[in-house]
Amino acid sequence: MSSTEPRLIDLPKILDDRGNLSFFQNNAQVPFEIKRVYWIYDVPGGEIRGGHAYKTLQEVIIALSGSFDVVLFDGKEEKRFTLNRSYQGLYVPGMIWKHLENFSTNSVALIAADQPYSEAEYLRDPELFKSMKLS
Ligand code: TYD
Repeated sequence: MSSTEPRLIDLPKILDDRGNLSFFQNNAQVPFEIKRVYWIYDVPGGEIRGGHAYKTLQEVIIALSGSFDVVLFDGKEEKRFTLNRSYQGLYVPGMIWKHLENFSTNSVALIAADQPYSEAEYLRDPELFKSMKLS
């Protein structure tokens, strides 16, 4: 499948009476080589994270605990993904405007990215993003 569209990825789920286990590996369940992992937690009720796009950075977002919505805008249409399964990841390619909202209490968002942190990768101006999508 092409890696240019956002999509949900079902991660392996090893069922066990002692508790379940899931995982992802470079270039397998995650369609790139992971260079960075970060997580978002202790989000106060009603807060919104994100609100930007990356120029080329790809990422996979997982609701390790609890639930939240990932809202994606490709310049034409908006799509909302409710993440609430710790064995499901949302793949997001570059040049997609993204924000996260509706965090449940104690939710944790884990994000694996194919690049180290660089502010130069960010597009934080929605008008600039839209004009780049049109060009
Ligand atoms: P930002 O990506 O804007 O947060 P979000 O998209 O979740 O709202 O990052 C917030 C701050 O954290 C910003 O000052 C940059 C810093 N940061 C790092 O230093 N390293 C990282 O890997 C990330 C994701 C952010």
